[in-house]
Amino acid sequence: MKRKFLRRTAPGVRNLGPDHVSGGLLIEYMLSRVGLSDLSETVLLDVGCGIRFANTISELGLAVRKYIGIEIDAETIEYLRENFSPPEFEFHQANQKNAFYNPQGSDDFVRLAEKLSEPADLTGMFSVITHQCPEEAAETFRFAQAATRPDGKLFFSAFVHGEGHAPFETGEARSLPVFRTISDDAIAKLAQLSESGLEYFEWDESRPGFMSGYTLPFLTSLVEQNGWEVVDVAPPWPNDLPIQTSFVCKRK
Ligand SMILES: C[S@@+](CC[C@H](N)C(=O)[O-])C[C@H]1O[C@@H](n2cnc3c(N)ncnc32)[C@H](O)[C@@H]1O
Repeated sequence: MKRKFLRRTAPGVRNLGPDHVSGGLLIEYMLSRVGLSDLSETVLLDVGCGIRFANTISELGLAVRKYIGIEIDAETIEYLRENFSPPEFEFHQANQKNAFYNPQGSDDFVRLAEKLSEPADLTGMFSVITHQCPEEAAETFRFAQAATRPDGKLFFSAFVHGEGHAPFETGEARSLPVFRTISDDAIAKLAQLSESGLEYFEWDESRPGFMSGYTLPFLTSLVEQNGWEVVDVAPPWPNDLPIQTSFVCKRK
């Protein structure tokens, strides 16, 4: 049975309708960015999976060679294992320390890659780096690298500040309640981010990991120091799609 409270997408995205509506559009967008027409030959690793993409694959009847979901939240993993069966679906619980989702975490996240039944052809991370400080993000990129084939790709989204990247000033963002919680002070600081020399910024300092923003040069260097080469970056809200700045990377 679908449990609504497990949905971890932002309220404005939920307003688009059931998971598979935004999920289908986002899978289609990711495929177009990485040059695939479908997932029928692909092992897709979804890091910080929540329940949206498993629901989407199932509801839309998408062909996928294998979908491997990684999630910190135990209840989400329980739901996924109850509702989506092997061999097409596989799920693992991560225990990475994360200020917002899992402050008590401790695992060596990178070693979780050894437990996957096979390496991924494509790794996706939707709205995950958006909640990670640089140390956590670096570990997540290393995990993704260890879990992906040498010729595989990584697609992920993040809050990026700077020219051409305006997380809450374009598209649907204007109407999302979450963006209305950002203080005027934070907005003023974000506008000055590049000039101030800050490369990473918590939108709400009282809630680390609630919204973690980066400058493009800093995030690119973080990606490139942790196993990947950035091949393509697109600004947020492409054609009003609910996705922040998104990156396509190939393994180094
Ligand atoms: C904003 S939600 C996005 C969920 C899903 N990717 C989507 O787009 O529908 C972020 C999710 O990432 C999970 N998460 C954060 N860090 C993680 C990590 N290191 N490993 C696994 N899951 C993680 C959280 O528990 C949460 O479910």
